[in-house]
Amino acid sequence: MSQDLSGKVVFITGAASGIGRATVDAVIAGGGQVAAGDIQSGGEPGNGSISLKVDVTDSASLAAAVQTTLDRFGRIDGLLTCAGISSRGAAADLDMADWTRTLAVNLTGTMLCARAALPAMIAAGRGSIVTVASIFGITATSANTPYNVSKGGVIQLMRSMAADYAASGIRVNAVSPGFIETPMTAMLQVESPSRSNFIDMHLLRRPGRPEEVAEVAAFLLSDAASFVTGANIPVDGGFSAAQVIKEQ
Ligand code: NAI
Repeated sequence: MSQDLSGKVVFITGAASGIGRATVDAVIAGGGQVAAGDIQSGGEPGNGSISLKVDVTDSASLAAAVQTTLDRFGRIDGLLTCAGISSRGAAADLDMADWTRTLAVNLTGTMLCARAALPAMIAAGRGSIVTVASIFGITATSANTPYNVSKGGVIQLMRSMAADYAASGIRVNAVSPGFIETPMTAMLQVESPSRSNFIDMHLLRRPGRPEEVAEVAAFLLSDAASFVTGANIPVDGGFSAAQVIKEQ
């Protein structure tokens, strides 16, 4: 199944891997074109789409990527802020460099992406921004403080921008994935909570696939979501809805 994105130009960060890459494919499958930005190279996306080297912590890099997108396509209809990193640690003992880097990429990076893309959307009087948050922006988990805080901030940033730019015809929403099998979580498998315990906390009792998040992001980017703004949509197999207490 693909959402109708025909005629749409979508700028995606974190586009070289995992959820971002799956959303590049979903947008193209829906008839749209993508400016696929990432700090690492991700190959050419097809359908006239372009691949751009971009660092979301660097506003000059983002300004150049947005300008290249406008030069190539003449418009930006959608923005997906998917670039993100994981980190671990509790307040008393976390590495402050990790804290700073996690907030810089996940939270400030999301803000800088929006600041780069918003002027073109405001001028056009339309746009859809989708931020990738997390279940750990809704609820916290242990020894994960920088990440939890960064994703909680992403959700409030999304709501703030929804409030500020609705009058300009711009919708802003978030998706909050649960455990999704990507290179990011492949690295987390050995860490606590253990992989199988964590997966069991999802009502559907399996990890999600990047394509399952991409489908919801593509819906929010499309005109099918024309009355949806300020929403944080969990794509988490029920993780944030309920926990099952096992019978002995
Ligand atoms: P991934 O590691 O496969 O992809 C992340 C991408 O972001 C990579 O291509 C990386 O090069 C890029 N990136 C990192 N720093 C960047 C920077 N400074 N500038 C530009 N690009 C940069 O990870 P995955 O799993 O696809 O994650 C995507 C988003 O989804 C992240 O924001 C992550 O926090 C979020 N998320 C992932 C979950 C999961 O279980 N995989 C669960 C909840 C949220």
